[in-house]
Amino acid sequence: MSKNLCKNPIVILISGGGSNMAAIVRAAQTGRWRERFDAEVSAVISNRADAGGLAFAREQGIVTAVLNHRDYATREAFDAALAAQIDLYQPALVVLAGFMRILTPDFVARYAGRLLNIHPSLLPAFPGLHTHQRAIDAGCCFAGATVHQVTAQLDHGPILKQAVVPVLPGDTAHTLAARVLTQEHRIYPQAIEDHLRGV
Ligand code: GAR
Repeated sequence: MSKNLCKNPIVILISGGGSNMAAIVRAAQTGRWRERFDAEVSAVISNRADAGGLAFAREQGIVTAVLNHRDYATREAFDAALAAQIDLYQPALVVLAGFMRILTPDFVARYAGRLLNIHPSLLPAFPGLHTHQRAIDAGCCFAGATVHQVTAQLDHGPILKQAVVPVLPGDTAHTLAARVLTQEHRIYPQAIEDHLRGV
């Protein structure tokens, strides 16, 4: 656990590369969240030991933890263990940043109002997986990303911020994902800062 406890700890959950998590950590540094909001990223937790983002978090001196969902017999058991780990930090915010797990209603209820997610589509369009390919296949002219409060329904909940990008001729899921990701790195820290500011 962090040695210098702050009033508004943030816990970030990741499953992969963690580029959104890194963008949030950098925004916390450059935006002086500790001084302005008494907030800091206190821990990064992954359900995968090979999540690339863990190395970045450790380099930043952030506590990391891994809970492998395969070690738990049920979704409920995993979510209970995850909640116990999160609660060590008494977070003001729990931030899902590419955390590729469906959460149980109990878990969502526990963090109601302080659980955020980013999804790589313009919700309510394209909840779920393969958003970029689905946007291309549907002939969309625009794609984007959404930061939202998490509710028990997957990829739903009050929208806090969105960013729009064009779908360009010749786009693949890969090129479109990269364009959207750049915008994710902009709006996720903004949404968190707004939340900390109370707007
Ligand atoms: C991001 O594009 C994020 O929006 C998406 O996973 C990627 C994680 O990238 N999340 C989801 O699809 C959740 N439904 P990152 O690990 O580099 O932040």
